[in-house]
Amino acid sequence: MNQTNSQPVDYNLKVVKQFTIMTIVWGIVGMSVGVLIAAQLVWPALNFDTPWLTYGRLRPLHTNAVVFAFGTSALFATAYYVVQKTCHVRLFSDRLAAFTFWGWQAVIVAAVISLPMGFTTTKEYAELEWPISILIAVVWIGVMVVFFGTMANRRTSHIYVANWFYGAFMITVAMLHIGNNLAIPVSFMKSYSIYSGAVDAMMQWWYGHNAVGFLLTAGFLGMMYYFVPKQAERPVYSYRLSIVHFWALICIYIWAGPHHLHYTALPDWAQSVGMVMSVILFVPSWGGMINGIMTLSGAWHKLRTDPILRFLIVSLSFYGMSTFEGPMMAIKSVNALSHYTDWTVGHVHSGALGWVAMISIGAIYHLIPILFDRQRMYSIKLINTHFWLHTIGVVLYIVALWISGVTQGLMWGAVNSDGTLTYSFVESLQASYPFYFVRFIGGLFVVTGMLIMAYNVYRTTRSDVVRKSEPLVAAQTA
Ligand code: HEM
Ligand code: HEM
Repeated sequence: MNQTNSQPVDYNLKVVKQFTIMTIVWGIVGMSVGVLIAAQLVWPALNFDTPWLTYGRLRPLHTNAVVFAFGTSALFATAYYVVQKTCHVRLFSDRLAAFTFWGWQAVIVAAVISLPMGFTTTKEYAELEWPISILIAVVWIGVMVVFFGTMANRRTSHIYVANWFYGAFMITVAMLHIGNNLAIPVSFMKSYSIYSGAVDAMMQWWYGHNAVGFLLTAGFLGMMYYFVPKQAERPVYSYRLSIVHFWALICIYIWAGPHHLHYTALPDWAQSVGMVMSVILFVPSWGGMINGIMTLSGAWHKLRTDPILRFLIVSLSFYGMSTFEGPMMAIKSVNALSHYTDWTVGHVHSGALGWVAMISIGAIYHLIPILFDRQRMYSIKLINTHFWLHTIGVVLYIVALWISGVTQGLMWGAVNSDGTLTYSFVESLQASYPFYFVRFIGGLFVVTGMLIMAYNVYRTTRSDVVRKSEPLVAAQTA
């Protein structure tokens, strides 16, 4: 350990390949369910009066599928790849790595079956009942042993910053998951949380917010710190800034959860701490975004010809947008307008579809030719088509929901001179319909892009243009 070794390393790419392919599969499944529930909000009859097709059961299926099946598979695939490449050593244990892959697929299948059947803890993003929750904890610890074991065996003197972010994501999500899911089982698929009342709400949003902060943010920043410099063929803009970014982000994020509980039974001072920490969070978030985007200094021209780089850089722009919007929404007076409205859902998807999905898609396009030993992706034109479909889809989605959300907030708050409400709830729902339709169209664009990606990946794996060297951006953009 602690010295660089020029011996070629026999990396374990099998598990990386498996997680990468399943990222695409679960992305298509999770986003298609998203389109279905978006359609149900326009045409409610689409539940066909079937309990397991109702909105209330499919919505958590969507969130679990996109966050834990699509997003987390992308994180595991890239974390296993990056830790090997930057530590110059094979994964710590092939068998444990294989267990984490199959264990994680078992968790997802259990979710796909149990959520439509109506089994749920009712805690958002932690709906899975206790046997599945235990399996999640076991697999997660397995992933941590593989990841940190590999890092411990490293043949490099330092730990590249991407690994810091991946490591923080793994440790924190393990802590959040175990803390929030402590429950007393009363039957095979039913349990009750050990927390109650306002404490339960506080635990839930400590979990919920930091799942955003450490899974949907820190993990993907790890991805950003490896794949943006690689695809741009430039070193990270500032290594020093990346370290400041890391420590500032993880020290501040953990306090911001109460912004989900403004104007509730949570003590007022705790709500104010959440608000202040959220506003401060803007600074490290933008520090990270600037560090990513500025990595392209001197190579901006590549954006014209390289759609993979475009995915990566535009994802950072969406990251910047959602981390400007989030602190604003955390201010109590703004939250009074945005809370419970579609504005929140629009904010979620500018982070989820703009940042999380786009950085993952860019990283996968970078990885596929390497993993399958091909010179480049089958079609650069199709990547470009995917880029535009996705970008237009996301913009349609979030703009529609901003308008819908602000309209809802204003209509709900409007009062007549005699103190009665100006609008009934149904009137606000009617006002939202056109925007729900636009969101549905945006979702169709995004899923069509994902299907094109699947086709492109399939053709790449079937192509006979075997890689001669590290694939060059020049070759990919030719
Ligand atoms: C085709 C793409 C997608 C479509 C059409 C879509 C659609 C939807 C719809 C209709 C909802 C329910 C909104 C409501 O109850 O008012 C929702 C919620 C949600 N979606 Fe998506 N979604 C898509 C992609 C994604 C992705 C890729 C992610 C994450 C990586 C994601 C994460 C979420 C989350 C976290 C929620 C819950 C939001 C909240 O509670 O405020 N979605 N989505
Ligand atoms: C500086 C960064 C951020 C801050 C301060 C922030 C703040 C907020 C606030 C105030 C809410 C609304 C809470 C409510 O009224 O109920 C919210 C909701 C949400 N945000 Fe963010 N946000 C940030 C970044 C992000 C990013 C990058 C993502 C996704 C990748 C994201 C995902 C979500 C989700 C999923 C919810 C909905 C939770 C729910 O009600 O189900 N946020 N955020």
